[in-house]
Amino acid sequence: MLELKNVSKTFFPNTPNERKALVDINLHLAPGDFVTIIGGNGAGKSTLFNSIAGSFLIDRGNILLGGKNITFLHDYQRARTIGRLFQDPLKGTAPNMTIEENLAMAYLRGMRKGVHFGISKKDSEFFREQLAELGLGLEDRLKTKMGLLSGGQRQAVTLMMATIVTPKLLLLDEHTAALDPATAEKVAELTQKIVARGKITTMMITHNMQQSLDCGNRTIMMDNGRVILDLQGEARARLTVPDLLELFKDRSHREFDNDRMMLS
Ligand SMILES: Nc1ncnc2c1ncn2[C@@H]1O[C@H](COP(=O)(O)OP(=O)(O)OP(=O)(O)O)[C@@H](O)[C@H]1O
Ligand SMILES: [Mg+2]
Repeated sequence: MLELKNVSKTFFPNTPNERKALVDINLHLAPGDFVTIIGGNGAGKSTLFNSIAGSFLIDRGNILLGGKNITFLHDYQRARTIGRLFQDPLKGTAPNMTIEENLAMAYLRGMRKGVHFGISKKDSEFFREQLAELGLGLEDRLKTKMGLLSGGQRQAVTLMMATIVTPKLLLLDEHTAALDPATAEKVAELTQKIVARGKITTMMITHNMQQSLDCGNRTIMMDNGRVILDLQGEARARLTVPDLLELFKDRSHREFDNDRMMLS
C-alpha cells in the first residue's frame, strides 16, 4: 500500500548545521497495516511523515501510495488520500467555522466541488450520526464553532475529518500527546475503533512505549534518521516495554531519550 524506496532527506546540506534527518529509508506497508513508530527526540519520525505527506520534497528515493508514485506531488494533492493529525489540536481545522462546516469541508475534499457549497439536510444528518458515535455529545453541537471545543473534542472531530472519506493512509503524529490522560485514552480508543472499522492503513508516532506495543500490528523504532527495529507477529507479541528499551540500547549503544516518553 505504501512503499518508501531509499528515501533520504538532509536539512541544511553542506553547512555546519547539516542534519541527515532521513537516511536511506526502505519501508513497505501492506494494506490495513497499523504501524506504531517510536524513537528519541530528533530521530526523524515527524520528518518521515512530512516526507510522505509532501511538506517538502525528499532529496533522494521514491514514495509510492497504492501503486502510484507520489514523490513529486504537492502536499495538497496528497492530502486528498492521506489523512493527518498532529499533536496540536488547533492544526488542521478552521476554528472560526462550525463543526458542521469543518466536516463538510473534509467530506467534499475527495469530490471536485468548490469551496462554496451548501450543506444538505442529508449531509447534516450523516454528520450527526457520525458525531454521535464519538460519544462526546457533539451531535447536538453541529453549529458550534470548532474554536470553542476542548482539545480532546477537537482532536476527535479532526480524526473524523481525516477519515470521513476513507484515506489510503492515516498519519498520526503524537495526536494524543497534548491531551490530559483520560481524554488521551478516549481519543486513543476512538482511533483504534475508526481505524479498525475502515481497515485504514495507519502510521502512528507515539512517545507512549506501552501504547506502541498495544496498538496496531507492527512497531518501528527510529534513530538518527534510520529504522533500527521493525517488529511484527510473534516477536512483537511477546515484547514488553523493558525489552523495547533494551533493544534500543543494544542497537544504538545509548539510553532511549525522548522528553515526552511515557513508560506505561
Ligand atoms: N524543517 C526542518 N528544517 C531543518 N531541520 C529540521 C526540519 N525538520 C526537522 N529537522 C531536523 O531533523 C531532525 C529530525 O527531526 P524530527 O522532527 O523528524 O524528529 P522527531 O523524531 O519527530 O522528534 P520528536 O520526538 O522530538 O518529535 C532533527 O534534528 C530536526 O532538528
Ligand atoms: Mg516529532
